[in-house]
Amino acid sequence: MITFSKISNINSFVREQRSQGKTLGFVPTMGALHKGHLELMKRAKQENDLLVVSIFVNPIQFNNPDDLKKYPRDINQDKKLLESIGCDVLFAPAVEEMYPDKVVKKYNFGTLETVMEGASRSGHFNGVAVVVHKLFDITLPHKAYFGEKDYQQLAIIKKLVEMEAIPVKIIPCPIVRETDGLAMSSRNTRLTFEERASAPYIYQTLKRARKSNETICPGPLKQMVINMFEAREEFDLEYFELADGENLQPINSWSASTEILGFVAVKLGNVRLIDNIRII
Ligand code: PAF
Repeated sequence: MITFSKISNINSFVREQRSQGKTLGFVPTMGALHKGHLELMKRAKQENDLLVVSIFVNPIQFNNPDDLKKYPRDINQDKKLLESIGCDVLFAPAVEEMYPDKVVKKYNFGTLETVMEGASRSGHFNGVAVVVHKLFDITLPHKAYFGEKDYQQLAIIKKLVEMEAIPVKIIPCPIVRETDGLAMSSRNTRLTFEERASAPYIYQTLKRARKSNETICPGPLKQMVINMFEAREEFDLEYFELADGENLQPINSWSASTEILGFVAVKLGNVRLIDNIRII
């Protein structure tokens, strides 16, 4: 695996590979790699000549400084995992390399960014879009792989690629879960033993919601989920939303869309977790 920390060096390298006709599959990450990331990488490796991974904890997508400070970091362990799956290229820049100047770019994603994560984490998606656009310009991938756990992020990135006419194909990849159903996330390492034991309740609740759509309307179903989280004092529910799978706008009848997902954001102790499930 070749590791780069300087933009100019990796950019010359990828240009050279492309000129030789090699295809590049890219997985951007913030490190603290887990099996969910590795699944994206294995797929990218299979579908391209070279697998390029970035590790960069992007400060401008954190609206809570404490969350940024506590974000798990373990570059040595990450490098071992990347070697184990045959990663070809790692890009791990410093903050000053990525942002030598103040970031002023402001995208407009319309109503895609005003709901759910966008409503509760001001500036988050702009920060994601800025870094992903920059990483695409630097690594020049043919395909880039994103997990559906961050479903709204995926929708924003698809929109970014369309708006900016970026020549990269976005490949959505299914959520990878622990055997007890908890969606894999770097944040899971911050759960205490007791919180980790409670965490599968999130997916159990989502599955219950999916099953209940056969018998109840969206409004009462949302209330049922709220009640289920209120019944467990360790959880602090931020939102549960039923929304269209394309435009992410809330729905209030099952016939409003042909693809409806349930989205949840919940705090377990100090750790904020998100998950989603396809309902229809
Ligand atoms: O999903 C993530 O890990 C990050 O939001 C991403 C896409 C790497 C941008 O920093």
